[in-house]
Amino acid sequence: MATDKTRAVGVDIGGTGIKAAIVDLQKGTLLSDRVKVATPLGAEPKDVLGAVLEVLEKLGVDDDAIPLGVAFPAIVKSGRTLSAANVSKAWIGFEAEKFFEDGLGRDIHFANDADVAGVAEMRYGAARDADGLIILTTLGTGIGSAMIYNGVLIPNSELGHLQRAKHGKDAEAFAAYSAMEREALSWEQWTERLQWYYSYVEFLFTPDLFIVGGGVSKHGDKFLPLLRLNTPIVAAVHRNNAGIIGAAALALATDEPRVARSATPLESVPGNLPG
Ligand code: BGC
Repeated sequence: MATDKTRAVGVDIGGTGIKAAIVDLQKGTLLSDRVKVATPLGAEPKDVLGAVLEVLEKLGVDDDAIPLGVAFPAIVKSGRTLSAANVSKAWIGFEAEKFFEDGLGRDIHFANDADVAGVAEMRYGAARDADGLIILTTLGTGIGSAMIYNGVLIPNSELGHLQRAKHGKDAEAFAAYSAMEREALSWEQWTERLQWYYSYVEFLFTPDLFIVGGGVSKHGDKFLPLLRLNTPIVAAVHRNNAGIIGAAALALATDEPRVARSATPLESVPGNLPG
């Protein structure tokens, strides 16, 4: 049973890379180097588990003395993954938290990757003390989202899957950072896509603040000033480490964030994403 409550390990599983570090829970800063391995091709459960074991070994935390939080790029409800946009379809309806706990031989806390990044920014970053509706989006392989209203996380918002009517595709296929890389877009060309995306989200939700996370947030100066929105938009203070820090912050069972209670029964949550 993990006892240390001042630090925790955060593992952030993404469509492209799996990143981990030991985190100071008081300050929300990294206490170790950040270790990273590539997400195994196809992202099958057993291969992802193997990669998580590898990052933990690299970190030198292969026992349960330190609490462990794991973030995953899918809808996560009661420990089950309910979608699979950029990972193997085997994750749909999968008892993922139990699978990792059995495979790692220890307790973990398991949540959506963008939601934990939102928690990190709420506790230690750009959304600290901010009231109203804050929408954090991660721009990476896909687009992840965290919605926080007056300090309460509304989990699994999945705003990367808003539909782009013109092309009948998910917004993330058009506007994620991976689209810029895949199509060799210039910053200006990519920003036009972001303009469409953030204007759409702004129209739907009228948020008080947008926060942009993901690896590309370190280049915020290249695209954030070009966006014309009514809502302030800032880079995540913790950049691409927000997922690691948020996963670690959720690792203490006694230290849960205030999460809005969902009235949706598990059975009524769609097993897959539209499109
Ligand atoms: C997934 C989300 C995830 C996001 C970022 C999307 O494709 O559906 O659950 O948060 O990618 O990884």
